[in-house]
Amino acid sequence: MTTKDPTTYSDPTQGKIKHIDFKIKVDFDKHILDIEATYQLDKPISGTLFLDSYKINLKQAQANDRALTWEFDLDDEVLGQRLQLQGLDNDSSFKLVFHTSPEARALQWMKPSQTAGGEHPFLYSQCQATHARSIFPCQDAPSVRFTYSAEVEVPSALRAVMAAEQVDGDEGSGRFTFKMPQPIPSYLFALGVGNFAFRELGPRTGIYAEPEIVDAAAWEFAETEATMKEAEKLLGPYLWDRYDMLVLPPSFPFGGMENPRLTFLTPTAILGTRGQTSLITHELAHAWTGNLVTNATWQDFWLNEGWTTYAESRITEILEGRDAHDLHAAYNAADLLKIMKRAGVDSPATCLYSPDKNPEEDVSTIAVAYQKGRDFLVECEIAVGRERFDVFIQKYMKSFQFQSLSTEGFLDFLKAELPDVFGKVNVQKWVYEPGMPDDWHKPHSHLFEEVQKALENYKQGKRPSREQVQDWHRYQTLSFLQGLSNVIPVDDCKYFEDILDLEKKNDGGFFSLFFAICVASNYQEILPRVEKFMGSVGRMLYLFPIFRAMITTEWSREQARPLFERVKEKHHQITIKRIDGLLKQAGL
Ligand code: BES
Ligand code: ZN
Repeated sequence: MTTKDPTTYSDPTQGKIKHIDFKIKVDFDKHILDIEATYQLDKPISGTLFLDSYKINLKQAQANDRALTWEFDLDDEVLGQRLQLQGLDNDSSFKLVFHTSPEARALQWMKPSQTAGGEHPFLYSQCQATHARSIFPCQDAPSVRFTYSAEVEVPSALRAVMAAEQVDGDEGSGRFTFKMPQPIPSYLFALGVGNFAFRELGPRTGIYAEPEIVDAAAWEFAETEATMKEAEKLLGPYLWDRYDMLVLPPSFPFGGMENPRLTFLTPTAILGTRGQTSLITHELAHAWTGNLVTNATWQDFWLNEGWTTYAESRITEILEGRDAHDLHAAYNAADLLKIMKRAGVDSPATCLYSPDKNPEEDVSTIAVAYQKGRDFLVECEIAVGRERFDVFIQKYMKSFQFQSLSTEGFLDFLKAELPDVFGKVNVQKWVYEPGMPDDWHKPHSHLFEEVQKALENYKQGKRPSREQVQDWHRYQTLSFLQGLSNVIPVDDCKYFEDILDLEKKNDGGFFSLFFAICVASNYQEILPRVEKFMGSVGRMLYLFPIFRAMITTEWSREQARPLFERVKEKHHQITIKRIDGLLKQAGL
């Protein structure tokens, strides 16, 4: 089935790219990749082929030693330039020679000063959702899958890693070769170049990071092999051979990115406590939910993230226990309700699927795909019982592995396999309508309730004591900060910071909520610390709440833009674009 995808200029009915052989030269001086790419199609094509591209500098195109002509025509800020490759004559293969632009959206070139070691440059890619086209012309749509090989040339002091199998290349050789035998959609193409050390974590797992932080990273994520075993019990065999991770510089705009075989990670998850291992569980779960069974278009994004959040919570239940699982779920539910309230009850952004929402651009409501998606699947599970649902999960993975699936396609499968779900769960409402259905089984947690009581007492004038909070679970602290009203006395800000040990715990998740409260509460002396935080943490999820608070609070409103300009160079271009948009929207 071919679904109309509004985020691509390509037309997969013309024929699909099946395989690409890359030769890539990484140029840290010019900030470009020099690339020769040979494409194989699934059928011979005559005439013109439409491809996505973004600021690609095309130098040569040929098919069977015949020169091809081309034209970059349709041009759009987001979609990029449509590349018309012309003169194909029953060809099932063609070759392009080109280089990327220093402004390629998928590539982040970091100066040595922006790395942990401070001596070597660092390059990393981020293709989800529509940025692969800035690395190579392609059908940049999640419904098209291809295999690839790559020869990568880098400065000899550095190492290249890809979301693929390394077949050749030694440290110091400056030459690394990879192959990706499992077909992937373009958004899962990934490359990293830098000064990396490697630590093995288990027979199938390991971690790459700069030498300065690799041991801390290896300790933090040491449980990955055990997580894989649980994931396989739930989702079926792991079909990507190895699972390694790459720790990126702090500018990385996400917590993690599920690049196949090689998850990309924020260094802010290294807390020295193993307190954010659910991040790994999440990215690992994507190896099935997202990477094996892929959303057909970005409109179906909830299929990737809702399923992954569901799988993550099932695995957390086993690894961290029922209490921790319930606490996560209750916290996430409260977060979801807060987001929905802010968006407005009728906002299409609160639907799982709506033709009127743009999942990639709506950062402030992106959690709907994750949490409402997960909660919908929990409803389905409750309707038929866990045993039957577990059989369904494995069949689902097997039936659609290495395929893309639309929301409709998923619901058809659900109807065929578990028809009774539709008698018990209002599927239409869950998927296509805004807000949460009234009969939602809202998660309950006694650990969460304990925090709600502390919040209630605080409202009555009784602050919690240090003893009361010192053994709190990470998500209890998060729940407490989440539940505080936006404006509290400055003195209480200082008190909570002290008893919650925020400085020592150095957890970006805590600071994100805490600083937003401080700003709203007129705690003006906090600003230099806020600035330091904003200049050292790239994770958008953490930055946005603080900027939102600054924009909506009188004393800080005018300072938001200048602060952003001062910390801007520390950030990823995606982050810069988004925050710039947020400020502009606020008239700043
Ligand atoms: N695939 C996403 C990150 C992403 C989403 C990149 C949309 C580009 C566009 C990744 O799996 C993710 O969900 N990361 C979360 C992790 C968290 C939910 C545990 C993040 O970065 O916050
Ligand atoms: Zn995810």
